[in-house]
Amino acid sequence: MKGIILAGGSGTRLRPLTKVTSKQLLPVYDQPMIFYPLQTLLTAGIKDILIIIAPDHAGDFLKLLGSGKEFQAKFSYEIQDKPEGLAQAFIIGKNFIGYDNVTLILGDNLYEDDFSEAIRTFKSGGRVFIKKVPDPERFGVAEFDETGKVISIEEKPKQPKSTYAVTGLYIYDNSVVQKAASLQPSSRGELEITDLNNLFLKERALDVAFVKGAWLDTGTHESLFAAGALMRKKKLG
Ligand code: G1P
Repeated sequence: MKGIILAGGSGTRLRPLTKVTSKQLLPVYDQPMIFYPLQTLLTAGIKDILIIIAPDHAGDFLKLLGSGKEFQAKFSYEIQDKPEGLAQAFIIGKNFIGYDNVTLILGDNLYEDDFSEAIRTFKSGGRVFIKKVPDPERFGVAEFDETGKVISIEEKPKQPKSTYAVTGLYIYDNSVVQKAASLQPSSRGELEITDLNNLFLKERALDVAFVKGAWLDTGTHESLFAAGALMRKKKLG
């Protein structure tokens, strides 16, 4: 299992905080934001990690994270020239992934859960993690049938069909590389991870699990603040 952290994007919603630095380098209590998703992968036993970054502050990521030796891991880096979607990670990361399975985590997603078991038991297809949220329209949203099975996922729907968001950690088998290459950009000009998940769903190959502990997407000032408060509380007890 290889790992990818996607830390691209320009963080426009967090201006002016992101005017001179990258969103994923901003402090969340006592650590740069990216340390949290990195720790999630390391805890899950993933040590071969590709970090995909925007060109603007690439040097700062390298300075912060280096070769990975300090973390008993191996880090590689690639540049995402433009914010053209999360699914592009599997096109940019094609050579890195090779013939392996891969776990993608978004550089601004913070989890309390330990995913070791979910990764150890993963065999094929895709596995995503959902969480009940008060503001589903900000996310990919799961639609369930009457038996509780997920039948589709919609990206940022105006009228969400449930309150369950698909969170930013995705486990895929190697077919993700070829599936990502087949995607067309959405109306917002991005290769959508939601379209990719729907391809797995169509093949009845998408397993949907629940996030048990806290999950935060730190893309807004409110959620960034909440993330800092949560991490402080966890640390100080
Ligand atoms: C992205 C995905 C969305 C997912 C979210 C999780 O949204 O497109 O499906 O629910 O990450 O954080 P974005 O970060 O582009 O707003």
